[in-house]
Amino acid sequence: MNTIVRLDLGGAAQIIFEAGDITEQQTDAIVNAANSSLMGGGGVDGAIHRAGGPAILEECRRIVARDGHLPPGEAVETTAGKLQASYVIHTVGPIYRDGLHGESSILASAYRNSLRLADRLGLLSVAFPAISTGVYGFPAEGAAEVALGTVIDELAMARNVRLVRFVLFSPAMLSTFIQAAIEQQQRREATGWNFTTTTQEEFNPRKEKEAMMSRKKIIAANWKMYKTPEQARQFMHEFMPLVKDHKRDEIVICPPFIDIATVSELANGSNIEVGAQNLYWEKEGAFTAEISGEMLVGAGCKWVIIGHSERRQYFGETDDTVNHRLKVALEAGLAPIVCVGEVKEERESGITEDVLRRQCTRAFAGVSARKAARMVVAYEPVWAIGTGLTATPEMASDAHQLIRREAANVFGEEYAQQLRILYGGSVKPENAHALLSQPEIDGALVGGASLKADSFSKIVHW
Ligand code: 13P
Repeated sequence: MNTIVRLDLGGAAQIIFEAGDITEQQTDAIVNAANSSLMGGGGVDGAIHRAGGPAILEECRRIVARDGHLPPGEAVETTAGKLQASYVIHTVGPIYRDGLHGESSILASAYRNSLRLADRLGLLSVAFPAISTGVYGFPAEGAAEVALGTVIDELAMARNVRLVRFVLFSPAMLSTFIQAAIEQQQRREATGWNFTTTTQEEFNPRKEKEAMMSRKKIIAANWKMYKTPEQARQFMHEFMPLVKDHKRDEIVICPPFIDIATVSELANGSNIEVGAQNLYWEKEGAFTAEISGEMLVGAGCKWVIIGHSERRQYFGETDDTVNHRLKVALEAGLAPIVCVGEVKEERESGITEDVLRRQCTRAFAGVSARKAARMVVAYEPVWAIGTGLTATPEMASDAHQLIRREAANVFGEEYAQQLRILYGGSVKPENAHALLSQPEIDGALVGGASLKADSFSKIVHW
């Protein structure tokens, strides 16, 4: 019998502690610390590396040939060879001397970068053996403290990763990590955390994954063509304190281009992420007044709205240009919010389904599920935008189900189950709860009601 301790962090994130051999288990990614084939100077190959077979070693050699040795604290992925995971994430931890040579910060960076990489890959779960504990002489308590502190902070920010498993090689190490988790709870005065202990024959990754499939909601503001940089600054000063402890949902603000730098600077290190309202599909060149994905990333954007109905209506956006923009946004590492939605006449003549289907298939053409991991879709019925008319929660749910089916056709069922579909169109504090409590509605894209700190914060707290 295996003892499993589960820590529910509130919101959607969980940490599982268990003793066992990670090479025999199924998970989305296994973190392999201190891979000698990626480090300068050698060392022993880890059990994960050996169990995965020569394919991983080959990939590691190619990485070193291409990029050189992996610096301590960085992370790269390879496929998982013979292991059951989808990826192995390789990182190089510190060699512990006396603790005074920055060992803790390198260890934190190894955990942080591994988790961020998993998140960029769109993975739901990551499993860590107790990296650097024992192997490099890092005192177990110290390592557990650094590991847990980092993982808890990262989980609060992660977009995709919801479950981190610590699979430890001995019962003593297991208790050290559990003790460190209890200390974190006390230090953070985290009242919403919940520990449960169960015994199981073996870990059931399939069931675990199903349970984790619930999607974290996103509350996004689309400011359209409102606010000068000074007004944006004013908004952030009012808004940030109102949502500073909010972890349940992701918060995104998409200001006009000219305000992005101001908003990103103020949001830096907070629970608020920044997006743009459009991007161009060329990398650079003589394209007066256009903005590239790389420029957006450089200005602090993580998100970008694509194909908003106002772009389609007034600026000649088509399904094909949406598709071009989607591809470059993903290439640039941005999370695209692809907008679809029918106009009034289309709904009245009963062709809503055809329109949504066409918009989705054309937007997604030539994009793989793996590449599209960060994509989000926003259903915005055009007749509901800025009109005060809202789709009823049932109407929105129906449209979302149709979009999810379309995503399943293009990207597969597993992808579709994780895809987040937002609703947009006259979302206000008064109707936010009814809409957002629908399981099919994974968030909101808010126009008018996002312009005032007070009303947008009420929507965030739906
Ligand atoms: P309103 O919330 O003002 O209706 O706008 C919705 C929208 O277009 C968000 O992108």
